[in-house]
Amino acid sequence: MEKRPRLLTGDTPTGRLHLGHWVGSLENRLALQDSYDCYFMIANVQAFTTRMDKPAEVHANVLEVALDYLAAGIDPQRSTVFIQSEISAIAELTIFFSMLVPFPRVMRNPTIKDEIRDKGLGDNYPFGFLLYPINQVADILAFRPEIVPVGEDQIPHIELAREVGRRFDQLYCGVDSHTEDLDYVKKGGLFPIVDVKLSHTKRLVGIGAPDAEGKLLKMSKSLNNAIFLNDDADAITRKVMAMYTDPKRLKATDPGTVESNPLWLFHEIFNPDKNWVTEAKERYKAGTIGDVECKKRLIEVLLHLIEPIRRRRAVYEKDPSYVLSMLRAGTEKAKEVASETLSLAKAAMKQHYF
Ligand code: TRP
Repeated sequence: MEKRPRLLTGDTPTGRLHLGHWVGSLENRLALQDSYDCYFMIANVQAFTTRMDKPAEVHANVLEVALDYLAAGIDPQRSTVFIQSEISAIAELTIFFSMLVPFPRVMRNPTIKDEIRDKGLGDNYPFGFLLYPINQVADILAFRPEIVPVGEDQIPHIELAREVGRRFDQLYCGVDSHTEDLDYVKKGGLFPIVDVKLSHTKRLVGIGAPDAEGKLLKMSKSLNNAIFLNDDADAITRKVMAMYTDPKRLKATDPGTVESNPLWLFHEIFNPDKNWVTEAKERYKAGTIGDVECKKRLIEVLLHLIEPIRRRRAVYEKDPSYVLSMLRAGTEKAKEVASETLSLAKAAMKQHYF
């Protein structure tokens, strides 16, 4: 079992997980649990970058994410689930790594720019917000993983982890700058140059109308356009029936567009009956099938996916001490791995004294 290559990824606990998390990462992770030694981090320190004034909410959300993990099928016998703030080695590595990243490089991160815009942070974000990509690099490198499965929006952060890894290995481990990424560890580097692993669906849109520029927004709790992994049948039905489709279609018999239409984007992603989807799309374009019929189909498909998750979650919700003990055991194990990395990093930087 322990010969499996290591994998690390995580979630910021901003609330219950939704279908965007499912297709963007959870589904992918379940498939990787056998072939990788998986570390799943609940990034509560990162949550403080925008929720430092809501500590109780962050606390509750950490437990929500742990429940969602278990309900989705993350198996603590095979994988390690842990809480970021408990791993002090990550905080220490963050400081050392921050010396390896020029300040303008932080500001060039497109994900940071998008977040400042989308969350309306203006120029009033804390210094720690700009520090978080470096903290995330430490999250990753503390575990020296081979792969990091994430959604598309995280690619700039993974790129930074690759840059910091190269820089550290060159500066402190004597690795030549012409070394191929795959060879850094073989050539004496401490940190591997990590690979990102994208899931087949990179981005899931929400169930709401597009923005002023006509762009469909990504599914997000804060945009109020999410279907959650613990939504019950009523909530799913209500949300799908109210889902944005093609506004130019006044009657069920009008021809409709399937492009940029969430109804069809969802069918393509979630409906396993590809033949039905192909045929129904043609009929939709021709105006011979109505929104309601297609939405009813989608409700069935989503219930089939979400109901078992919701049921498992209800069982774990009744056993908070099990959830806590799972987190405690995972955190202990993660602590050992990260402390070993920190110790090796200090030795490489010649800051081991005693
Ligand atoms: N930034 C990620 C998100 O918001 C969460 C995260 C924190 C993460 N640390 C990580 C993801 C390390 C991958 C690796 O979704």
